[in-house]
This record gives sequence, C-alpha cells and structure tokens, in this order.
Amino acid sequence: MLLLNGPNLGALGHREPEIYGTDTLADIEKAVAEEVGSRGWEVVSVQRDGEGDLVGAIHQYRDSTVGAIVNPGALMIAGWSLRDALASYAKPWIEVHLSNVWARERFRHESVIAPLASGVVVGLGAYGYRLAARALLHLAA
Ligand code: DQA
Repeated sequence: MLLLNGPNLGALGHREPEIYGTDTLADIEKAVAEEVGSRGWEVVSVQRDGEGDLVGAIHQYRDSTVGAIVNPGALMIAGWSLRDALASYAKPWIEVHLSNVWARERFRHESVIAPLASGVVVGLGAYGYRLAARALLHLAA
C-alpha cells in the first residue's frame, strides 16, 4: 500500500507539536506497517514537499499498490494536479489530517481531494493513520 504525505509532513515531531503531536513520520510509517502486516502488505512511504513529486508517485505506484493513505497537507486547499492524479488512481484511498482542520483557520475548511476519497479521517492525530490503515484492510479486500 501507498502512504503518501505532502508538504511539511517530513518535519512531524518537530513541527508545531501542540497541533500535530510528537510522533515522527517514521513512527507513523511503523504504526501503519504494524496495522497492515497481518495481511502481508508492504508499505511504500513517500513524503514530498512538491506537488509534482506527489503526482509522480501516484502514477508510479498506481498498479503495484492495493490502496493508499494520503495526507496532502496544505495541498488539500488547491492541489488540483494532485486531485487529478488521485482521480486516476483506481484503488481505495483515505485522506488523513492529524489536526481537526474544521476547528482551525477558514482556509483549511475545504479539501479539493476529499470528494474523491473513500473516506476521511480528521483530528485524531497520528492515531488517524492507524484507523485509515484498518479501513483500507476492509476496503481493499
Ligand atoms: C494537515 C492540515 C493542513 O491544513 C496543514 O496544511 C498540514 C497538515 C494535518 O495533517 O492536520 O500540513 O494536513
């Protein structure tokens, strides 16, 4: 499965821990791998700060993955090429946000990718990735 994280998420653990928690991306990768290991899935983790690189990863792993977890970071707001790449990804995928974006600034209240997602997990911190992984086990049977 593909674990895709967008801009600034490589800095998790140090970045505004009062909002995003203290788990690092490595901790999250480990947690997701734990959740899906029982099914024998491997986790391909890609974190990029640039939208084009994220688009490239979606196309690169389109056929070799069973599904995806996507935290687009701020690209949720206007990442139209990310949205179009995900539209071509014919597997289940779940959007995750660590923070409760609805409780934050207005500019975070819209996601251009959410209408395409199988589901969205918001506001549960790093634990949200575990929940998304479990949901994927269910969806990508
Ligand atoms: C985020 C929420 C976004 O608004 C923000 O730009 C991020 C992180 C989250 O996981 O809570 O980079 O996606």
